[in-house]
Amino acid sequence: NQRVTLNSLRQKHLACEPITMVTAYDYPSAVQVDTAGIDICIVGDSAAMVVHGYENTLPITLDEMLIHCRAVTRGATRSFLVGDLPFGSYESSSAQAVDTAVRVLKEGSMDAIKLEGAAPSRIGAARAIVEAGIAVMGHVGLTPQAISALGGFRPQGKSINSAIKVVETALALQEVGCFSVITTIGIGAGPYCSGQVLVYHDLLGMLQHSHHAKVPKFCKQYGHVGEAINKALSEYKQEVKNKVFPGISNTPYKISEGDVDGFM
Ligand code: KIV
Ligand code: NA
Repeated sequence: NQRVTLNSLRQKHLACEPITMVTAYDYPSAVQVDTAGIDICIVGDSAAMVVHGYENTLPITLDEMLIHCRAVTRGATRSFLVGDLPFGSYESSSAQAVDTAVRVLKEGSMDAIKLEGAAPSRIGAARAIVEAGIAVMGHVGLTPQAISALGGFRPQGKSINSAIKVVETALALQEVGCFSVITTIGIGAGPYCSGQVLVYHDLLGMLQHSHHAKVPKFCKQYGHVGEAINKALSEYKQEVKNKVFPGISNTPYKISEGDVDGFM
């Protein structure tokens, strides 16, 4: 069970074997992603939405992301680990971007960072981070951190001009040395990519019972985990209410005769 490296990812890409990527945010999700043999585990800033319940990805801080990163490293021992740079942690200058990326590696123990690369200044940030010796995954197309400017979660590249812009940005990121623009990982981008990524909660069908049930159109739900959790919690509640739980088998501790406090 060898660790996935940039080299093994490149090999997969060259062999035309699709690369798999899924998000994780904590110890249990990281264990699950790792155990399933997913190639890349990304600590996405989608944590803001699916873990913290915000409307978009803007509010999550670098310190919060680092907590998620550290929890994930304790659960995933095989997947290649990518940490998302959150909004506000890399836009001001290349120096700020490098400082943030360094923290994600040193304090978050990630193997690489990801940044949203739509603006020209982000290309400079990507270059500076690569020059600092850090592997960078570029993110083009729908860049959720830009909803303020884009006016919402808008898929990009739906007109020829827009599609050309997406490709140009990708090429610019590749030019400055981003590893995973050479290999492309798609989300809603169709089958002609080197790999695919989905958000953990979306693909598992985790949140369909909540007000955050908006699963993206392109997502396929491979499970109905939310339903399973809800069923288990309701059963537990009923059994406690009806005094079915705990039963004899769930009550293993007995006071035996002859025991004196402190002398077992
Ligand atoms: O934050 C996130 O989950 C992402 C993935 C879609 C890669 O950016
Ligand atoms: Na993200």
